[in-house]
Amino acid sequence: MCGIVGYIGTRKASPILINGLLRLEYRGYDSAGIATLEDEGLTVMKDKGRVKNLYNIPGIDDLKGTIGIAHTRWATHGKPSKENSHPHVDNSKSFSVVHNGIIENYNELRKFLTDKGYKFYSQTDTEVIPNLIHYYYNKDTKNDDMKLLRAVNKACKDLKGSFAVEVISKYDKEHMVVVRKDSPLVIGKGDGENYISSDIPAILSFTKDFYLLNDLEFALLSRDDIKFYDIDLNPVEKRVQVIEWDAASAEKEGYEDYMLKEIHEQPTAIRETIGAKLNEGSKCDFDELKFTKEYLQGVNKIYLVACGTAMHAGLAGKVMLEKLCKIPTEVDIASEFRYRDPIIDDKTLCIFISQSGETADTIAALKLSREKKARTLAITNVIGSSITREADYSIYTHAGPEIAVASTKAYTSQVVLLALLTIYFAETLGVSKKEVEDLKKEIIELPKKVEEVLKTDEQVREFGHRIYQEKDVFFLGRGIDETVARESALKLKEISYIHADSYPAGELKHGPIALIENGITVISIMTDPKLVEKTVSNIQEVITRGAKTLVVTNQKVDDKMFDTVVHIPETSPFVSPILSVIPLQLLSYYISKEKGLDVDKPRNLAKSVTVE
Ligand code: M6R
Repeated sequence: MCGIVGYIGTRKASPILINGLLRLEYRGYDSAGIATLEDEGLTVMKDKGRVKNLYNIPGIDDLKGTIGIAHTRWATHGKPSKENSHPHVDNSKSFSVVHNGIIENYNELRKFLTDKGYKFYSQTDTEVIPNLIHYYYNKDTKNDDMKLLRAVNKACKDLKGSFAVEVISKYDKEHMVVVRKDSPLVIGKGDGENYISSDIPAILSFTKDFYLLNDLEFALLSRDDIKFYDIDLNPVEKRVQVIEWDAASAEKEGYEDYMLKEIHEQPTAIRETIGAKLNEGSKCDFDELKFTKEYLQGVNKIYLVACGTAMHAGLAGKVMLEKLCKIPTEVDIASEFRYRDPIIDDKTLCIFISQSGETADTIAALKLSREKKARTLAITNVIGSSITREADYSIYTHAGPEIAVASTKAYTSQVVLLALLTIYFAETLGVSKKEVEDLKKEIIELPKKVEEVLKTDEQVREFGHRIYQEKDVFFLGRGIDETVARESALKLKEISYIHADSYPAGELKHGPIALIENGITVISIMTDPKLVEKTVSNIQEVITRGAKTLVVTNQKVDDKMFDTVVHIPETSPFVSPILSVIPLQLLSYYISKEKGLDVDKPRNLAKSVTVE
């Protein structure tokens, strides 16, 4: 959570910083601020609330500094307020710092500094950092170009927790220092200027050349140069990575909101994710994975570990892996997995799914699996993200930048990639040949079918209009449809603030049916021919009790029974979530719009959850 931006060059820094922050607002929007190096010293301007509030700060347009740092906050320590906003400065106002992450030992460090006479003006964990830097800077008797770097390095050695940090100082108007540990930070290389950001898309309009820092690596940036160091300040060589994403793909391109744009990008995202991996008549190709038949035959269990929507994609993956590869598969929530001492050994394959590749719990779960000797595989949408640097193997969804907090195209791309991975495993094992061939055909058809499903937009919008004032909505399904029920309930909750619950349809009568009363909305998904009749019976039970019903189905049902039936194209039940989820993504979107809410930036949430 939190977004950070930095600039060092010859242009006015402030517009570049604010522009970057606006693109990073999805990471948190409790407060925002910038610090620049002006002729008279460090200038900090910040305020509570959204980035756009910065434009109202008197004097912000007059800033001339060509070095600056900036921050948009998702509050952890200390309520959203001006004094808790970043950038923070030390007591002498000589060093300014922005920080994304959590300093776990900040109380201890505060005490250390307080005993030395330092004072604190905020409730944040971050404020210890500029003061520690000041402390070490003053103790250093050498005066050279590395002095700021040395002070930051010493301060970081005292920190426990996670941090992506940018530092500037009035004592060094030629440099900026950055460092990261367990929080994202990328460096964009320009011509006579350099950029920092929490993610690549925010600065993609300035450069396509990026350096990616590993944990506890430092960078000393000047206008024309970037030098890298390890924790002991030994120089580190780094290669530039050229990022092929198109800057325009991170813009709204005429859509009212990123979420709507991203929902409509799903045919392309799926097409790109399939890419060259699947060709009729040939085997599914995962060149980057060299998993042999012997290795897969020896796998005792697959774990799919993730958070939120990515975990829901994992639930669909489990169904495919177990049915087609016959390998026992468990899905786990990363924040639970990491603390429950899971039974793992060198015969376990642990797969971690994360759109951002930066989710703290997922990365911690991955590290734990490696310690226990499991083979680890990351599925992510972001090349060079932290997870890819920790995993033994990485494979990518090619959904393009997902900006809206509510995940849509990343989810459907993850399910597609899991289907392809299942096929690769099954073909390597030589099992389920007929089912695999059928599934391959279905996957190739998916982008066109998604385009068909998007045409249900108007019908879904009308239903949304009918229910947008509801307080509770229930989602039901069986088998793989139940995984879509969970994902759809999450989507509705997070962007419409309507309480939504999901249940396996057959479980309702074991308790939750007590909540069904006249007028309550029940939404069900029915795509599995073997289960459709069972689910219809369950829906009949709620209709009898007065429920309003929406059904998403590709089966023949008696439309007259339900209030609204959204018909979607038929496909294999394995990949049906990719189609059935779309009307329900649209439903959440339209309900949120009707309620006048900020669809892309729902309250209390952030796109990348980089704290636990
Ligand atoms: O970047 P990740 O895929 O690791 O993020 C995981 C969850 O935080 C994320 O899917 C979250 O649940 C979404 N906001 C849901 O729409």
